[in-house]
Amino acid sequence: MQAYEIIIVRDAARKRQLAAAAWHQDFVAVAPVVLVFCANPDRNRGKYGERGARLYAVQDATIAVTYAQLAATVQGLGTCWVGAFDEGAVPQILNTPPGGGPWQCCQSVSRRSHNRRARAGR
Ligand SMILES: Cc1cc2nc3c(=O)[nH]c(=O)nc-3n(C[C@H](O)[C@H](O)[C@H](O)COP(=O)(O)O)c2cc1C
Repeated sequence: MQAYEIIIVRDAARKRQLAAAAWHQDFVAVAPVVLVFCANPDRNRGKYGERGARLYAVQDATIAVTYAQLAATVQGLGTCWVGAFDEGAVPQILNTPPGGGPWQCCQSVSRRSHNRRARAGR
């Protein structure tokens, strides 16, 4: 069903907002691109009911994150799963419907060495 969306963020101002929403994990702002994976529970609800909406959509989005990380690694890129963020702030920054809550996660993508350096310095 692919019960998720991927929002690609390259805009510097928006990345700074996301970094602040991630409790000031500043490496999010310096990554060239931030991918935000949003589960879309409504896409599953019709076919799989509440279990599909509550659980399958999260699983679907989580699997997508993991494969994206593997694909980035193959390309020589570094990623960091960012699960710690203000659930209220991120939908406002990205204009996504509220209620995605814990089903959203971001990952920053950059050169592998860059990501490690940025995180070490925070
Ligand atoms: C669900 C989940 C959420 C995470 N959230 C964060 C986060 O917000 N910030 C962060 O630096 N690492 C977070 N991590 C950990 C990183 O993804 C990574 O595993 C960890 O920093 C170790 O990476 P390294 O082995 O490349 O140093 C999270 C991991 C998981 C599984």
